[in-house]
Amino acid sequence: MRRLLVAGNWKMNGSVSMTDDLLSRLLDADVSACDVAVFPSFPYLSSARKQLNGSAMLLGAQNCAEEESGAYTGEVSATMLQDIGCHLCLVGHSERRTLYGEDNDTVLNKVQRLLNAGISPVVCIGETLSDRQSGQENAVVTRQLQQLLSELSEEQWQHITLAYEPVWAIGTGETATPDQAQGMHAFIRSLLHQVSEETAQKTRILYGGSVRAANAVELFAQPDIDGGLVGGASLDAAEFLEICCS
Ligand code: PGA
Repeated sequence: MRRLLVAGNWKMNGSVSMTDDLLSRLLDADVSACDVAVFPSFPYLSSARKQLNGSAMLLGAQNCAEEESGAYTGEVSATMLQDIGCHLCLVGHSERRTLYGEDNDTVLNKVQRLLNAGISPVVCIGETLSDRQSGQENAVVTRQLQQLLSELSEEQWQHITLAYEPVWAIGTGETATPDQAQGMHAFIRSLLHQVSEETAQKTRILYGGSVRAANAVELFAQPDIDGGLVGGASLDAAEFLEICCS
């Protein structure tokens, strides 16, 4: 049985006081029904780590460098994230792919860096609107996953979470219907059989793209949807908590 994970991707939002306030509200609530993770921006990770100490809430970063260390001004390595106590890191978010040119090779390199550092990657995949309109969604997602499926071992897959985020649903208010999302999640799970039966059964696949309190119950009720990667709605404590209890 896969346990639900609800992950809040704060993107480039927040401040010291906002991080403090949002986390205090989340920590005051009982969210033991599922796993909960927050992904603040780099400058707030250390203070978030201190605030979360002693709680079960997981801490994640939104990005990491492809390289191990050295002369890469402005980059943050997987080892540094491990050093400050991160458990998770997003990789291949569609905003990174479209705005910063991350391709599937970059994603594989980052995933390997993270795994070597003992951090669990949350790998984002998903098709654009034109991919879907031309019936290419399965082909696109297959391409995005192919190297990970062939290069990583079954043991490494135990530490990976996938997030299916149709690009047309991110930040648009337009959500995939539960049927559309379930169809794609089942397809992704079928691809995981290439690694092993157990990997297909155990890997969590989150849905992302305009998840709200109003649609989370129905989405999370689908058999192959194991929680959500929540952007905009994760900045509102009350709404995020309602999603966590869905
Ligand atoms: P959204 O973002 O919930 O605001 O659509 C999701 C994401 O980008 O992870």
